[in-house]
Amino acid sequence: MASKKQFYLTTPIYYPSDNLHIGHAYTTVAADALARFKRHQGYDVMFLTGSDEHGQKIQRVALEQGVTPQKYVDRIVAGFKHLWKTLDISYDDFIRTTEERHLRSVQRIFQRLYENGDIYKSEYEGWYCVPCETFWTERQITGEHVCPDCGRPVELVKEESYFFRMSRYAERWLRYIEANPDFIQPVSRRNEMISFVKQGLEDLCVTRTTFDWGIKVPFDPDHVIYVWIDALANYITALGFTSADETKFRHYWPADVHLVGKEIVRFHTIIWPIMLMALDLPLPKKVFGHGWLILDSGKMSKSKGNVVDPLVLVDKYGVDAIRYFLLREIPFGSDGYYSEEALIKRINSDLANDLGNLIYRTLTMLNKYYDGVVPAPGLEAEVDRDLRQVARAAVLDAEAAMDRLEISVALEAIWELVKRANKYIDETAPWALARNKEADRLATVMYNLAETGRILAVLLVPYMTSTPRLIWEQLGLSADPAAQGWAAAKKWGGLKPGAKTHRGAPLFPRIDLDKEELTMDTEKTTVKEKVSKTPKVEKKAVNQIDIHEFGRIELKIAEVLLAERVPKSKKLLRLEVALGQERRQLVAGIGKSYEPEQLIGKKIVVVTNLKPAKLMGVESNGMLLAASFPGQGEEEAISLLTVDRPIDSGARVR
Ligand code: ME8
Ligand code: MG
Repeated sequence: MASKKQFYLTTPIYYPSDNLHIGHAYTTVAADALARFKRHQGYDVMFLTGSDEHGQKIQRVALEQGVTPQKYVDRIVAGFKHLWKTLDISYDDFIRTTEERHLRSVQRIFQRLYENGDIYKSEYEGWYCVPCETFWTERQITGEHVCPDCGRPVELVKEESYFFRMSRYAERWLRYIEANPDFIQPVSRRNEMISFVKQGLEDLCVTRTTFDWGIKVPFDPDHVIYVWIDALANYITALGFTSADETKFRHYWPADVHLVGKEIVRFHTIIWPIMLMALDLPLPKKVFGHGWLILDSGKMSKSKGNVVDPLVLVDKYGVDAIRYFLLREIPFGSDGYYSEEALIKRINSDLANDLGNLIYRTLTMLNKYYDGVVPAPGLEAEVDRDLRQVARAAVLDAEAAMDRLEISVALEAIWELVKRANKYIDETAPWALARNKEADRLATVMYNLAETGRILAVLLVPYMTSTPRLIWEQLGLSADPAAQGWAAAKKWGGLKPGAKTHRGAPLFPRIDLDKEELTMDTEKTTVKEKVSKTPKVEKKAVNQIDIHEFGRIELKIAEVLLAERVPKSKKLLRLEVALGQERRQLVAGIGKSYEPEQLIGKKIVVVTNLKPAKLMGVESNGMLLAASFPGQGEEEAISLLTVDRPIDSGARVR
């Protein structure tokens, strides 16, 4: 524990709720990526999450369900743990506020605050939002009697209570925030909090007597401690604060980052720091308020009924795809929209097409030209230096972005390398090098591609949990990319020539976007209607056709998923293509002009309503379009028709 630099990172502790949605996964997946990144960098990381199990809301729900609150929370917390396990969340500790270690510590904290004169008894009269577990003043609810945060009705509360002397700390808080501009992030949230406190801080009501599902005030057991005081303390109770063994507390406190959703920044940047000031403890270094994952009908929540179950999504698309989507789609700190279509598009473009194809093409060519063994590099060229530079920039940019908590920016930086490497294949054309027997260049190119795969495996460790290892194993490397350390991505040449690679299935299968098929169908009908209303043109020459005749030919954009030679044929290639959600096999006579691996990922034009035919025993369901032109010698060369914009397969050509 002693030698490495420590890094303490927390998520909020979650309220038990019956429906876990993809929004819940968001904070925790982001925190997990950060925790894995710091470990990868060599830090001694403590990553804490947990559950926030007390309060009036939970007591009510349990009552409705006819179970004890403890039974209710036990069931839900088991669900949390299952979800985190499914998402490969690498937390180091999970704190439940119903645990003895937490209860005792919170009581001792409360006692200490009381003895210091920061807690006093009085009477509370005001408004309470049960779903948010928040007190509001008359002024704050502006006569509407609804919660300013969630819009639900507030309840009038009048009871004898203890108060926390927050007002005493307002000045000190403002000075601290001024002196520590990085404490609250993003900066917009900081400004909001400053103006809130400048309006004046009132003392906070911190006990309740009208229900009992909470931690009892040690010196007045008719009162239970306000759930936010109870909950916020978790960040230190989990470290053993005030317990017989404070080793962890001394080692890890203050926290490096509290990661929280934007709606609870106020609690974490005002109440929590003031609690710590009153306890004479150092403040966390940073509270980062991230944005919300939003469905079209507003912020996702159980009560609004637009829930998306992360377990179902993981089952359908895989853990790494879900993690990648959450981390990549939304600039960390902003709100972002969730839709299954957006998810599928990310999977298809970034994962299947960019990353998956790169690795698959690399390993396919290594098999073909070197029996799967990584060659020693030979002759150098300018393009190699460019690839290496992009690799280096990817590592440095991703690192800098992670240190600013810009997780999506870090992934963008890594994808610069993925894209550069795919372009490198097209530019260096290994199939041409092989054909022209440029063995020295071919060896360099293939080595560089495999080495890029190694670097990517190391870079992806924080974000995905099985893909980096798969790439690693396919490259014939031993141990684990996570064990290499982030710095292993900075050194070009880590892959030793002679490694025996093992190509597997493509890393990410492409997913069909049903909706796209739907829009295509409607488009088809409108095209037909338009066509039938077009007036007939006079036939002028024998070779002219009218638009009806042309309309009978169905042309579509297809994406090549797989290509291989038809055995014993020099000319024929067997292709598997995607046409929107449809898959087809084609046989094409382009084998003298194209190597199969050159075709994977290409968008080509296919005649889709041609009668099936068999070529050398292989069935072909369609024909691709290509232009022929005079090649070298007697041979005629072929050029495939492709599109000049990134468009999805299945699109009609007309
Ligand atoms: O607030 N998008 O717990 P919680 C993004 N118990 N993040 C979301 C989200 C969405 N749609 N829905 C929820 C609590 N979250 C308190 C915390 S800490 C001492 C006590 C995030 O279960 C939310 O922003 O309501 C928060 O960070 C986390 O899920 C837990 O929320
Ligand atoms: Mg909440």
